[in-house]
Amino acid sequence: MSPIKPHGSATLHPLYVADAAQRAALLDAARSLPKLVVCSQAAANAVMLGSGYFNPLTGYMNLADSLAVAENMRTPGGLFWPVPIINAVKDASAIRSAKRIALLDPNVEGNPVLAIQDVTAIDQASEAQMKRISEKVFRTTDPAHPGVKNFLAAGACFIAGPIQVLNYSYFAAQFPETFRTAGQIREMIRRNGWNKVVAFQTRNPMHRAHEALVKIAMERVGADGAVIHMLLGKLKPGDIPAEVRDACIRKMVELYFQPHTVEITGYGFDMLYAGPREAVLHAVFRQNMGATHLIVGRDHAGVGSYYGPFDAQKIFHEEVPAGALQIQIFEADNTAYSKVVGDVIMMREAPAGHKKEDFVMLSGTKVREMLAAGQDLPPEFARPEVAKILMDYYQREKEAATVTAA
Ligand code: ADX
Repeated sequence: MSPIKPHGSATLHPLYVADAAQRAALLDAARSLPKLVVCSQAAANAVMLGSGYFNPLTGYMNLADSLAVAENMRTPGGLFWPVPIINAVKDASAIRSAKRIALLDPNVEGNPVLAIQDVTAIDQASEAQMKRISEKVFRTTDPAHPGVKNFLAAGACFIAGPIQVLNYSYFAAQFPETFRTAGQIREMIRRNGWNKVVAFQTRNPMHRAHEALVKIAMERVGADGAVIHMLLGKLKPGDIPAEVRDACIRKMVELYFQPHTVEITGYGFDMLYAGPREAVLHAVFRQNMGATHLIVGRDHAGVGSYYGPFDAQKIFHEEVPAGALQIQIFEADNTAYSKVVGDVIMMREAPAGHKKEDFVMLSGTKVREMLAAGQDLPPEFARPEVAKILMDYYQREKEAATVTAA
């Protein structure tokens, strides 16, 4: 079987400059270019463009593209795309007449050059346009929403144009075992000889529900393998850092999955918390990395109560046109351990007479409270080896907080 095609083109076109001599020449040329320290989201966009996940985009969108994408998930040129990919600043006066600029990394000490951008337009979005984008992408204009907050904080001036990416920011150095480009994952899948591949998006340590979702999805679609693909970029305060999640996931896969059926990988992007729209973006970039299926479960990429629990599934039926994507969605129902069945199941498959109380469920807040208080998580909820890693992390955090307070 031939591998699934990337989105929008026959082959993958990552924007990372692979040739070392060319990269060195560009870095040299960057010294005399006007410089711009970009915001974290623009840097993450560059990393995603560089690593092929945002294929077939060639750079940052202008205002017209961003508005069209926000409005109906299509660029004026006809490309299906769910979320504006922008380089937004508050004030572009420093680079006003520049044709070419060096983009500096805000997330690495000393702000090294991350990419070179050819500036094709500098567009100022009006307040009404910013609101409209926010409303369509995040389904809210509430500045308390973490994604909206970042979007508004970046600024309303969109610097558009193609980019050449010179490195993968802090991701490659900080997560050498986990950060992978879309091309590397395609290669991994090819090497493993996998045809059907389930991708699992996550920004959490994987508990038993997550583990079961991957196993259930693999079995139902008849997958040869699964790619756990964790977000390595920025999260909202209170979320668990990537290195802790990574350790949890590695332990879980080592102990609870068949050998050689799962690849543990990650990508360099900041969480948008855009729920349904982010789920569609997730599908686009999992297709680019060669997955044939993406798991979308309860409150995928959600935050607070901004989205209905299954809105991220509904959008694929209601707003994604048929044929826009080749990747298929595995729609998972709410999943939890059933004391009646003695296993983790999807709730829609519970036997007759099964009651809500028969499920072992814990909210994220409850989990954090228990771990901070040094209480073990129920083994029906989390694998004990995973819970131990989390407990150690929370205890370290508590100690650090006590030291700071003292
Ligand atoms: S996400 O923001 O990256 O989506 P998380 O890592 O918690 O958050 O979830 C990863 C995937 O598992 C998402 O598709 C989510 O919908 C799904 N998921 C997480 N927990 C459950 C659950 N208990 N029941 C059903 N789906 C779930």
